[in-house]
Amino acid sequence: MTHVESERVETILGQFADTRQSLIPILQQVQATFYYLPQNVLREISQRLHVPLPDVYHVATFYNCFSLEPVGKHVIQVCLGTACHVRGAPRVLDRFLLDLKLPTPGTTKDCQFTVRTVRCVGCCGLSPVVRVDDNTHPHLTKAKVRGLLKKYEAKVPAEAEEAVRD
Ligand code: FES
Repeated sequence: MTHVESERVETILGQFADTRQSLIPILQQVQATFYYLPQNVLREISQRLHVPLPDVYHVATFYNCFSLEPVGKHVIQVCLGTACHVRGAPRVLDRFLLDLKLPTPGTTKDCQFTVRTVRCVGCCGLSPVVRVDDNTHPHLTKAKVRGLLKKYEAKVPAEAEEAVRD
């Protein structure tokens, strides 16, 4: 863990009582800060709250809102359902992977983006569809990919960029 990351963990832990009741709110804060729950942070939480590590993992894996793997600040879901597929979704996916320098769907090295493929997000009339975080982007073509990424890159707070550089 970098110095900046340690300070962030300390800041989070300092906001809550060292009791088991603080476990979920602390995990939520850690997830919001790092976009996943790093193993070393889970160990620190376990020691600080006097909650056995298996119990911490039990909670961390029970809720969908927590991830034990790094997830990008922005999650891009490219729909590859039938309607989207026939209207060019594979080419859109290729464009995202190319622009983000990913060989396959996954998370970029700077943890800004995670690309996933999904099967039908329920708005086939708008195909091809891409969801970024909670936003639906209809009729997406590969020509629009660069602009879309730029829009979300611009949302990266300076603080997050600083952590990436450490
Ligand atoms: S197939 Fe893509 S939204 Fe249904």
